Amino acid sequence: MIRRILVSDRIDLDAFMEGVKEGNSTVQVDVRPEISAEELRAIIKDYDGIVFRSRTKLDPELLTNSNLLCAIRAGNGLDNVHLETARRRGIEVFNCPELSKEDVADYTMAMLVNLTRNIIKAHLSLLEGKWDRDMLTGSSFKHKTLGIVGLGRIGTEVALRARAHGMKVIAHDIEKMEEYAQKHNVRLVSLPELLRQSDFLTLHLPLNTTTHRLLNREKISSLKKGVYIVNSSREQLFDFPALVEAIKSGQVAGYATDVFEEEPLRSEHELITLAKQGYNVLVTPHIGAQVVEVQQSIARDCGKKIVQFFDSLEKI
Ligand code: MLT
Repeated sequence: MIRRILVSDRIDLDAFMEGVKEGNSTVQVDVRPEISAEELRAIIKDYDGIVFRSRTKLDPELLTNSNLLCAIRAGNGLDNVHLETARRRGIEVFNCPELSKEDVADYTMAMLVNLTRNIIKAHLSLLEGKWDRDMLTGSSFKHKTLGIVGLGRIGTEVALRARAHGMKVIAHDIEKMEEYAQKHNVRLVSLPELLRQSDFLTLHLPLNTTTHRLLNREKISSLKKGVYIVNSSREQLFDFPALVEAIKSGQVAGYATDVFEEEPLRSEHELITLAKQGYNVLVTPHIGAQVVEVQQSIARDCGKKIVQFFDSLEKI
């Protein structure tokens, strides 16, 4: 039996096919990385499996009208899949949570360095012919407190890097145990305490009904004045208008983000406007895991996972 697979986002196809070849099932792979939501709705019935990244939305309607047996997220976050519908329809959902954690943590630290040491601003000002070192005076990491909300795979990697930079690291996590935190030289605290104490804040949480707008207006107003924030998780973890106000008032001294509620980002987006007005805002187009080696290993893993899944059905 030939299994039909749709690849609906950009992935490393050579690596994906290497993974597929590790199994026995015969598959036909169609690659449509630019497919629109409407086109996807029109053809989804023809497929047994789909491989996708953050651009593809597997909403209840799409899943209900499909004959999918499995859906493989080439990445970590599953917020673009309606998991409840997938479960009800018996569609197996897989992701690759282990493969990008170090690189997303590297990205997070790089953005924090850029925010606090004005690296991008310095580069751009020199290109404009300026030599203004006073304007570019930064803020030190040493002895400062980094607050990590979510001490999972990525959060733990960030903690490791932050300790190497001489920071004190505190974290809030609803699942992690004291023993785990101690092993990683992290002090677990309540969320209100973390928000009050952090000089730098980073979030590493999945987006779900519990974490949606977790950092609401009240919590944002309780942040330490002058805090620097990096968001490489999801924009919807924040009450966005309240965050923008906090940036404008100076309560948030810098905000760097890779993730947006609507992607690709519109050129008139508020954060772009703030950055152009000179606020310490840095934006990148969802590149936290955009690393050659990571994308290769994720694609290979997806190929392996999908073919193993179909192989397992043959045995039934
Ligand atoms: C993820 O959840 O894995 C990230 O958002 C990265 C991505 O899709 O590129």
